[in-house]
Amino acid sequence: MKKVLITGGSSGVGLALSKLFAADGYHIIWVAKFTEEMEAAAALLRTTFPNVLIDFKEEDLSKIESSKEVYKWIKDKFDFIDVLVNNAGFGTYGFINETEMEKEVTMIQLNVTTVYLLTKLFLKDMLERDSGKILNVSSGVSFNPVPKMAIYAATKAFVRQMSESIYYELKQMRTKVTITALCPSAIKNTDFQKEAEMKNVTTFDGLFATTAEEVAKDAYIGMNQGKRLVLTGVKYRIGAKLNKITPAFITQYAIEKEMKIKEQNKN
Ligand SMILES: NC(=O)c1ccc[n+]([C@@H]2O[C@H](COP(=O)([O-])OP(=O)(O)OC[C@H]3O[C@@H](n4cnc5c(N)ncnc54)[C@H](OP(=O)(O)O)[C@@H]3O)[C@@H](O)[C@H]2O)c1
Repeated sequence: MKKVLITGGSSGVGLALSKLFAADGYHIIWVAKFTEEMEAAAALLRTTFPNVLIDFKEEDLSKIESSKEVYKWIKDKFDFIDVLVNNAGFGTYGFINETEMEKEVTMIQLNVTTVYLLTKLFLKDMLERDSGKILNVSSGVSFNPVPKMAIYAATKAFVRQMSESIYYELKQMRTKVTITALCPSAIKNTDFQKEAEMKNVTTFDGLFATTAEEVAKDAYIGMNQGKRLVLTGVKYRIGAKLNKITPAFITQYAIEKEMKIKEQNKN
């Protein structure tokens, strides 16, 4: 039975992906912050997939030592994993002089350092076995400057740049191991929006807004095909192509419009 480790697997995109892995008979392994949430999510998954094997570990992945602990736990308990999904992450929203420094440091640890460490640790083993897949969740915001999401966008640019560069390293090594960077547009139905305090931000109702289910479906197909980059949703894929030929000032205008608080909710 194949094994997948999904960080932040008990909600949003992580849970939607877990359903697809479960449908393919994977042993699901989650690491997230709250045991109760993982228990509830496991119960939910079992209503559709009664025989699914699920294990989980409570871990605050923003702590510097957590990646090594997760790696050791996996080695001791499951020996190895076939797929690693670096999904856990959150965002902050606001001008740089308004956002909380401590929260952003935690975000950098989770979105950048942990993604780097888990990729580094598990990729080495995958290369030794010449087998395995890594899916790293970046974001559409990784492609352009994003006012009010400067630090979050920078963390996701790191994830995309690292993953795409390693993709070409793996090509040079002629290994069967693959790495895929996932870049979703704004996702309407997850906890992200609330966590980032973006309740009334236009982008979640915008043309490119998507759902966790659509993101998971596109990601799952792309990862299995060993794609370098997965953009989610047809409309967003067309938008991203236009982004390449549109003058930067027009793109920037459109992004800034998307990142505004909706007019009717300003007060
Ligand atoms: N929503 C969007 O618009 C959007 C767009 C592009 C990319 N993304 C990216 O997609 C990924 C999934 O986000 P989502 O939209 O599905 O949001 P979500 O529902 O809030 O999921 C985030 C997951 O990360 C976990 N997590 C957060 N902090 C953690 C920590 N310190 N340690 C361990 N786990 C932690 C959460 O687990 P707990 O509940 O246990 O804390 C949760 O399961 C993130 O990397 C996000 O940046 C989101």
